[in-house]
Amino acid sequence: MALVSAKEMAQVAVAGHYAIGAFNLNNLEWTKAVLKGAQESNAPVIVQVSCGAGKYMCGFKTVTDMVKDVIESQKITVPVALHLDHGTYDAAKECIEAGFSSIMFDGSSLPIEENIEKTKELVAICNEKGMSIEAEVGAIGGEEDGVVGMGECADPDECKSVADLGVTMLAAGIGNIHGVYPEGWPGLRFDVLEAIKAKVGDMPLVLHGGSGIPDEMVQKAITMGVAKVNVNTECQLVFAKAVREYIEAGKDQQGKGFDPRKLLADGTQAIVDMVKYKINVFGSANKA
Ligand code: 13P
Repeated sequence: MALVSAKEMAQVAVAGHYAIGAFNLNNLEWTKAVLKGAQESNAPVIVQVSCGAGKYMCGFKTVTDMVKDVIESQKITVPVALHLDHGTYDAAKECIEAGFSSIMFDGSSLPIEENIEKTKELVAICNEKGMSIEAEVGAIGGEEDGVVGMGECADPDECKSVADLGVTMLAAGIGNIHGVYPEGWPGLRFDVLEAIKAKVGDMPLVLHGGSGIPDEMVQKAITMGVAKVNVNTECQLVFAKAVREYIEAGKDQQGKGFDPRKLLADGTQAIVDMVKYKINVFGSANKA
């Protein structure tokens, strides 16, 4: 199946009170694992790539070709959107060129006027090309790709002005943080989420930093309008743990256990299992 825009899947998810899992890719193993997890769950899925991960994987064109080829060779039939995560303006343009089906323009560090102006331009291009576009208001906390945010809460009126630009989905900070949550993190600000939802109506909302938030909290956010949940760190943690256990058990030193196809197999399976677990929590299993 060809790549699809995330627009329809996000809108159907809002109406159905579930969320689409958006999983960050880091390499070929991740691509295979996330797509396998989604296919086995019969769930629509968003695979996304940050600017840093795009560079690591030799550029957005390489990523597009890899994702498309894996879809074809692995006979993936569930809808897949290929999305840029936290894109700069330049990266957004590159991904549009490279054949992504969705982008996020993260103008959250720009003055709101400039964020709005650039978002408008990208919305027009995405509309013309049938692509989806996510915008962000209020920096998401934690650190990702060297970008450090403080876990701000978005201003509901700013959310409304950005939503009105015609974006497909809106990432709004509600106390969420990328990466591992610190001890004593107070939890999601449902009062802020409620105020944002009241302003933006049926606009699908995006919850970043989906790793480590208690499942019930994520599910509550989904009932309140979150339709896309981003997960990166938890897949990385289970991958690293499984590979570490393999090596600590001395398996890399038995026979041909050093072959990367064996060395990384348990880690790759751990990602498949995590993706399936998250899809169940988000309620998107069997929604393909
Ligand atoms: P986590 O790494 O905390 O899961 O966050 C992922 C994310 O929000 C990507 O934008």
